[in-house]
Amino acid sequence: MKKIKDINFALVEDTRPPIYTAMKYWGKKPHNIWREYIKNYTPEYDLFLDPFAGSAMSAFEAVKVGRKAVAFDLNPLTSFLIEVFCSEFDKRKFFEELNKIIEEIENDKVYKEYFHITCRKCENTSAVAQSFKWEKGELYEIGVECSNCEKNEKNRYLEKPTEADKNKSKKLHKIKISEWYPEDEFYNSPSFSANFIECIGGNHFYDLWTNRNLYVISKIFNKILQVPNIDIKKQLLLGFVKTIHLCTKMSVPRREGANRGFSTSWGRSAYICSSRQMEMNPLLVFFGSCSGKQSVESSMVDVKNYLGKTPKIFYVDKSNKSNRTKNFDIKYGIIDINTIADFIDEESIDFIMTDPPYGGLVQYLDLSTIWLIWLKKFDQRFAPNYESEITIKNNIQNLETYRIKFQNGIKNLFKILKPNGKIVFTFHNKNIKIWNIFLNVVAMSGFNIEKVIHQQNRRTGESNVANPYGTSATDFYIRCIKKPMLHFKTDQAEFEHYILQKTISIIAQRNEPTPYQILFNGLLAEISSAGFNIEDFDKNIEQILSVHIGTIFELKNNNGKSGKYWWFKNPEKYIKYPDKKLTDRVEDTVISFLRRKVSVTLDEVLGEIFVKYPNGLTPDIKSIDYILRRFANKFGGKWIYKGGEVEKNFTEHTEMLYILSEIGKKIGYDVYIGKREQSENYNGKKLLKYADILKLDKFNLGQEKKNRVEMIDMIWIMNNNIEYAFEVENSTNFTSGIQRASNLDNSINKIMVLPNKRKEEFLNIKDPLFIEGFKKCNWGYIFYDDILKLKSLKVISRDNINTFLGHL
Ligand SMILES: C[S@@+](CC[C@H](N)C(=O)[O-])C[C@H]1O[C@@H](n2cnc3c(N)ncnc32)[C@H](O)[C@@H]1O
Repeated sequence: MKKIKDINFALVEDTRPPIYTAMKYWGKKPHNIWREYIKNYTPEYDLFLDPFAGSAMSAFEAVKVGRKAVAFDLNPLTSFLIEVFCSEFDKRKFFEELNKIIEEIENDKVYKEYFHITCRKCENTSAVAQSFKWEKGELYEIGVECSNCEKNEKNRYLEKPTEADKNKSKKLHKIKISEWYPEDEFYNSPSFSANFIECIGGNHFYDLWTNRNLYVISKIFNKILQVPNIDIKKQLLLGFVKTIHLCTKMSVPRREGANRGFSTSWGRSAYICSSRQMEMNPLLVFFGSCSGKQSVESSMVDVKNYLGKTPKIFYVDKSNKSNRTKNFDIKYGIIDINTIADFIDEESIDFIMTDPPYGGLVQYLDLSTIWLIWLKKFDQRFAPNYESEITIKNNIQNLETYRIKFQNGIKNLFKILKPNGKIVFTFHNKNIKIWNIFLNVVAMSGFNIEKVIHQQNRRTGESNVANPYGTSATDFYIRCIKKPMLHFKTDQAEFEHYILQKTISIIAQRNEPTPYQILFNGLLAEISSAGFNIEDFDKNIEQILSVHIGTIFELKNNNGKSGKYWWFKNPEKYIKYPDKKLTDRVEDTVISFLRRKVSVTLDEVLGEIFVKYPNGLTPDIKSIDYILRRFANKFGGKWIYKGGEVEKNFTEHTEMLYILSEIGKKIGYDVYIGKREQSENYNGKKLLKYADILKLDKFNLGQEKKNRVEMIDMIWIMNNNIEYAFEVENSTNFTSGIQRASNLDNSINKIMVLPNKRKEEFLNIKDPLFIEGFKKCNWGYIFYDDILKLKSLKVISRDNINTFLGHL
């Protein structure tokens, strides 16, 4: 079997293609990152499974990279989406049917009566109300669309309603709806609170719409059901599903702004009702959902281009458990994970990647019901099964029921996965009890956690809600392997020791005061894979660490902002191998990447950074953006390296290294030039050409120390002994400069080489820690002018250097 190389660092999220923006689903994951995982962990022609497939994104990504996918979800919407996106799209016929529906309703008497309005610009009596805005039951604004107005003039405007408009809007209950609409009541769920019911004005789903809108919606729906071609019917139903939630009383007007007076959203993942409501014209919304940008049309066209084909699908019918056909690209179904083993053979799945429900964070079935109550009329398969949903709901499903259902489900996954097969979960929850249930469930099912990766998401969304302390959007990718059961470590003392050591190691590696949020994410990743039970972890970790404030740690102010930073009381005790501060290392990496590539996208930079600085070291995306803004200009979608001052500094720095190498050689030293500087150009040659030694392997420094010492700008060596180390600080931070060379013994001379223009700045440094470190590690300083004087001497000795050397 081909050996699979693991993915051990965060990846960069891409922009979503239209197929994923076409339908609202909560908690969609970064599609390209999942694609990378699926491609990497599922050998070609083998089987990938996502048992909580949601929007079905994972299945499409699997097809895109030529893998077979099984995509199950209890939510019938997943199956509906798969059926629509894998249907044949005949654009001409689709528009024929769409236009027929639109025309019929446009000519409907009731529609005309309630949606036609007289244009105040051209007096056309068949202008159309695009929306009605309400505040506390009073109509206060109408959005008007007039197709008759002069072409150049905007044919959409907002106006105050007349008394006649208001009166008409008060009589909406009189509209008779003769066609079918769902009569389901809201069921017993905290999603439908008493306040919500009161605000909406009833406890039936039909109360979500005004009678005017329900009239149009039911007309559209019933006309779609009459369309003879099943593919077109499903595609129009997708347009319908994209429409109806936007036309409910839950829609709110957007805040004032460019052209936003005409749009709305149902943004929060909950049933909400606010005092301001926007009653959208369903016919216009339906047309926009079917045609143009982010519509059925654009996504159907995109899906074929994106996947390279129309995938062959196979529906798993619950009444026929034995069918094991292999002739499919996507096998899908409305399957409860607790029964999954009835439909998939033991040890038959090669790789599973899935995004299970994060406790009760999002009530998927409740939210989808607004669509399913209509879709089930089209096909009974789409009736939801609430009892089996894995979730937490006040007074209905508690933590324990969540745990039991989840546990059974994951045990099933263990059964159907091949031996040594891998499974990747994405998970996050700010409630540590739920984290703990998750980790227990995974371990009790027999999976061994191999790696936990902290993955920042670009887009805010569901995981943002889940994030502790609610900052940037973030997720954990938990990779497990099917291996014998792992027992949790429960020893409190061992746990506390582990947390302390890990915290010390994270802060030491970062080498800078660190916010608690970063410690928390870094620790969570480490602790989860170390097999500890982390009940009340959130509270514990602060308690455990707080005991050591004043001895090991000290809390530093964060420039007046809230949230103190964690740092060491005696840094030198814990930072065995000093390096530059993480912020400076990251900045160096970004600059060197910019210099190499000149024109880069943010994603390319993030890709470089995520690999180099994994987990507890990963900087916030915002800080990268800040660095880019300083060193590059944005042009189109790219960052173009500024060069200029930065380049001048590099040139001076490189030139000084060349001169130092000449001086060293004149005295009789073998010269080593820093690893990063070796590839710089001087006088048409790479700097490495001026060095005698390119590697420091023979000095037995140990790997970690060697990695850092190799980054020192220049080292002079005599008889296999390092005698001098130089850092040329043309423009960079002095404090960072002394860190690396401090890895070398105190007996070795360390010299900071400074441009004359920085003399005052340098001699005015007051920081006692800096001064103490400078003295203790045997540092001296010398200015560029003096280096030039040394260079001009015919014969040079160490004494000559000493004459120019300054000490603090
Ligand atoms: C976090 S969402 C997955 C979202 C998905 N990753 C996406 O990109 O759209 C979790 C899913 O678990 C499903 N689910 C809940 N209980 C289930 C059960 N018992 N069996 C199968 N699926 C279930 C929900 O319907 C929901 O779609």
